[in-house]
Amino acid sequence: MSSKLEAIGIAKRYGDSVALEPTDLAVQVGEFLTLLGPSGSGKTTLLQMISGLVAPSAGRIEIDGRDVTHVEPGKRGIGMVFQSYALFPHMSVWDNVAYGLRMRRKSREEVRAAVDDALAMVRMTDYAKRFPKELSGGQQQRIALARCFAYRPSVILLDEPLGALDKKLREHMQAEIRRLHKELGATFVYVTHDQDEALTLSDRICLMNQARIEQVGTPADLYDRPATRFAAGFIGHSNLLEGELDDTRGAGGEPILLAAGGRIPLPMSASVTPAMRHTLLVRPEAPRLVEPQSGFVDGTIADVVFFGSDTRVQLSMNDGSELTVRCERSLSPRVGDKVGLMWDPYRTTLLHA
Ligand SMILES: Nc1ncnc2c1ncn2[C@@H]1O[C@H](COP(=O)(O)OP(=O)(O)O)[C@@H](O)[C@H]1O
Ligand SMILES: [Mg+2]
Repeated sequence: MSSKLEAIGIAKRYGDSVALEPTDLAVQVGEFLTLLGPSGSGKTTLLQMISGLVAPSAGRIEIDGRDVTHVEPGKRGIGMVFQSYALFPHMSVWDNVAYGLRMRRKSREEVRAAVDDALAMVRMTDYAKRFPKELSGGQQQRIALARCFAYRPSVILLDEPLGALDKKLREHMQAEIRRLHKELGATFVYVTHDQDEALTLSDRICLMNQARIEQVGTPADLYDRPATRFAAGFIGHSNLLEGELDDTRGAGGEPILLAAGGRIPLPMSASVTPAMRHTLLVRPEAPRLVEPQSGFVDGTIADVVFFGSDTRVQLSMNDGSELTVRCERSLSPRVGDKVGLMWDPYRTTLLHA
C-alpha cells in the first residue's frame, strides 16, 4: 500500500493555545479515513492544514509523495465539502456544479459532460434547473457533493457534511457517501464527532482528543481493542471494572482481577502489574446471564430497557457498582431478579491509560 497523503509532524498553535500537537498521519490511496473526536479536539484544524486553508505552525503535508505545505489550496488536487453547503444562491443547480470546472477553464463539452455525470451520481439530474432555495437541506448537500466530485479530485475532504441534517436523512446520506466513495475511488478524509457515523463509513478511524491522536485503527480495532480509557468511553457502550489483582492466579494460571465484588479471570496474555489498580473493559454484549453464584460476579437487575432488536439490562453489582448487559429478548429478565454474569475473558480488554 502506498500513501496518498501524509501529515508529518504537523502542528498548529494560536498564540499560547495548541489547536494540534505535532501529529503524524498517513492516509492510503483510495482509503476512507475518518477523524473522529469531541468538539475542539483538533479535527477541523488537521483537515484545514491538509487542504491548505490553514497554515501549519510546524511540520509538512505530502500528497503523492510531493511536499505541498506551501502549495495553495486550489492547486493541491483536493475537493472539499463542509457542513454549510455554501451554494451560490443566484445560480441554478447546474451552474453551481459547473462553477469549479469553468474556473478551471475546461471546454464547454467537458463541463457539460462532467456536470451531467456528477448530477447523475448524486441522483439530482431532474433538479438541474432549480435554485438552491428550492431544494431541501439534503438535496443542497447532494449538490455540494456533486460540485466537489465534478472535477474528479483524487482527495476529498469532508468536514461534518451531514451535521445539519436530521437523523433519518443523515443515515440515508451516509449510505450515499459510502456508495460515492466506492464509485469515485478517491481518497476520503471525513470529519465527524458522531461515533456511529464513523463506524459505519470508515475503513479506518483516527480518534482525536485534546489536540492529539488518541488511536488509529479499523472500526473493529477501536471497538474491540481500544488503547485507552478515552477510546473505550468514546466508542460504544463501556463497562469499566476497576480493581486490583488477586495474589493467587486462577486454576488455569490466568491472572484474576478483584472487581465488581467478584473474581474475574483476565486473558492469559494480559500484561498486569501487582499492587496496581487495573481497569477492565467489558462490552455489554460479552456477558451472559447465569444462575447467581455460578458466574464471575453477581448482581441484581435494576432496570430493563427495550432497544428493539435486543434488551439492555442494568445490573446493580454486589459491591454497589453498575453494569450494563445486552441480552436476548427471549430471556425476559425481570427487575429484582438476582443473577450471575459470565463471559469469555478474551472478549474483554485491560486498559492501561
Ligand atoms: N482560528 C482560530 N483561532 C484560535 N483558536 C482556534 C482557531 N481555530 C481553532 N481554534 C481552537 O483550536 C482547537 C481545535 O479546534 P478545531 O480543530 O476546530 O476542533 P474540532 O474540529 O475538533 O471541533 C479548539 O480549542 C479551537 O478553539
Ligand atoms: Mg470541527
